[in-house]
Amino acid sequence: MALLNREDMIRIIESCEIKGQDEAIVRALMYINLGYPIMLYGPPGNGKTTIAEHLLRYISGGDNYYRIEATEGMTEYHTIGGFHPLSMSGNPELSKKFVYKDGIITRAIKEKKNLLIDEFNRAPTTAYSGLFMLLSAGILPVEHREEVLRKPDNWVLIVTANLGDEGTFKMSSALKRRFIPIFIGYINRFTEEKVIRSYAPDLDQAIVNAILDFAEETRRLWQEEKALPLGLSTDGVIKMARYCDLSIAEGLDGKTAFTDAAMHQGIVIADETDYASIQTVNELALRIASRL
Ligand SMILES: Nc1ncnc2c1ncn2[C@@H]1O[C@H](COP(=O)(O)OP(=O)(O)OP(=O)(O)O)[C@@H](O)[C@H]1O
Ligand SMILES: [Mg+2]
Repeated sequence: MALLNREDMIRIIESCEIKGQDEAIVRALMYINLGYPIMLYGPPGNGKTTIAEHLLRYISGGDNYYRIEATEGMTEYHTIGGFHPLSMSGNPELSKKFVYKDGIITRAIKEKKNLLIDEFNRAPTTAYSGLFMLLSAGILPVEHREEVLRKPDNWVLIVTANLGDEGTFKMSSALKRRFIPIFIGYINRFTEEKVIRSYAPDLDQAIVNAILDFAEETRRLWQEEKALPLGLSTDGVIKMARYCDLSIAEGLDGKTAFTDAAMHQGIVIADETDYASIQTVNELALRIASRL
């Protein structure tokens, strides 16, 4: 029987904090129903982690799932398990002894808990050696213990990844093909305006339009002209709207508030080591502000 029916899918979408990603969420849910692990990927700040948490919370009936944020230093020890020095327990008598500790994937399989690996590709492929057999043959050999664990029925694994960002590893094709990649991109202008309005219902429409124009233009400069390493995220749009709303309420004029906010978020998306990149976003901010 499928894990999720139509009503579940509707409920998941309606209760999701992330707006405008319905199609991507439905695609992810279809694959989850087919038993495949999902990789939500896309530029930062567009809701990958929030969507993954929302899906897992619904499917697992609350926060009853495991999660880990991958880092550059993560190894098999953290995912599958390994010997852990008892000296870390603080007891000097035990300092030369070791105890075997299960990693997060092993614990998830043993305890039948679903799993979220956030920022998946910030760890090298070697950290995920245990996933190869688990995701193809449904078994997890735990060598140190000489045991073989079986993947539980309806076990859900979701990972998020920011492909191509600084500090990420190139995944091996063999690892990548074990996941279904689902793109979480930029949402449309109409929905993004509704998101702004949910945070700043009374913000002057001209300022809202300026923020949306700024976001749209940074995304175009990124995608079409390759003049920026990224476009502004929906998270960035929300921060601009909240800053403008608050500073205008504190007495700042709209034009200055917008220029400040655009310059702040401009630094977030520009290549901060390249003056030309910073200048590109600053000029864009000033050009849009001049219309206010
Ligand atoms: N489409 C959206 N609708 C509503 N809120 C959004 C949307 N996109 C992003 N946000 C807001 O942005 C916040 C950040 O999103 P989140 O951390 O899930 O993004 P992410 O894609 O995981 O980013 P990163 O790649 O940096 O980890 C969310 O908590 C939410 O408040
Ligand atoms: Mg995230």
